[in-house]
Amino acid sequence: MAAAPPSIVLIGAGRMGAALARGWLNGKPKRKIAIVEPRPSDEISAWAEAGKIVLNPKPSPAAIVVLAVKPQQFASISETALGYTGPKTLAVSIMAGVRIAQIARRLDTQRVIRAMPNTPGSIGQGITVFSAPAGLAADDLESARALLAPLGDVEGPVDETLMSAVTALSGSGPAYLFLLAETMAEAGESEGLPRALAQRLARRTVEGAAALMAASGDDPEALRRAVTSPGGTTQAALDILMDTGGMPRLLRDAVRAAAARDRQLSKEAD
Ligand SMILES: NC(=O)c1ccc[n+]([C@@H]2O[C@H](COP(=O)([O-])OP(=O)(O)OC[C@H]3O[C@@H](n4cnc5c(N)ncnc54)[C@H](OP(=O)(O)O)[C@@H]3O)[C@@H](O)[C@H]2O)c1
Repeated sequence: MAAAPPSIVLIGAGRMGAALARGWLNGKPKRKIAIVEPRPSDEISAWAEAGKIVLNPKPSPAAIVVLAVKPQQFASISETALGYTGPKTLAVSIMAGVRIAQIARRLDTQRVIRAMPNTPGSIGQGITVFSAPAGLAADDLESARALLAPLGDVEGPVDETLMSAVTALSGSGPAYLFLLAETMAEAGESEGLPRALAQRLARRTVEGAAALMAASGDDPEALRRAVTSPGGTTQAALDILMDTGGMPRLLRDAVRAAAARDRQLSKEAD
């Protein structure tokens, strides 16, 4: 008979933590799940009442602890978390900016995975990149992949020095797309479209283009070229967007600023 899957303690069940727990409850293998959360949502309270999870159990070291609190909350919760960890615990963190060494030091375990999901993960459509200390066992890497799978695709392990760039690209990236939809609508409005229509057109265009990219599997550059006839309307717009100081330059500067901010936040967490 296969060994029972190890028990998990999830610390912090906000948007991301709840999405993870939902995936574990609905997926296989069936795991024993405990959730530590001072203000559980109705969904989490209902799971506890139905006996699907244990809410706020007495501290004792678990096989796996998943940290899904805000990075700013980490220092104050690490005392609580320490009650659920020990040298044998695999600690998986999705906290932005908190480094592996900082987690290892506060939680008394060297078995640490640091992951960066993104917000579409809350509906299982995200991408998560993770990093691990050199020499972490292959089984632990596999466990991390399985634990993070409810949020969507999982990539890794990557070198921890890349996590600031990952955060700046895929972690913060959904906001860049939301801004695109927002500013496209504003631009349509200034060309005379009624506001509500402009918003619907912008939203559906971003949604539809993303769905087409997903369905076709073609790379974005090929898709862009396919809709750009020489001398046409799209070309006229792209001449502005791709000009010096245009979108490529702006995005490079934006991603660089986000990565620099991530490095700074990591230092502050020391
Ligand atoms: N959302 C994203 O797109 C995204 C992307 C990448 C990374 N992340 C990372 O994922 C983590 C979680 O993000 P989120 O959006 O899920 O945040 P969230 O919704 O604020 O969830 C954090 C949860 O932890 C709870 N909490 C606070 N103190 C606690 C304690 N002492 N013990 C146990 N739980 C406690 C919070 O409760 P209260 O609300 O009552 O304080 C909240 O329910 C963050 O570290 C964030 O950096 C998120």
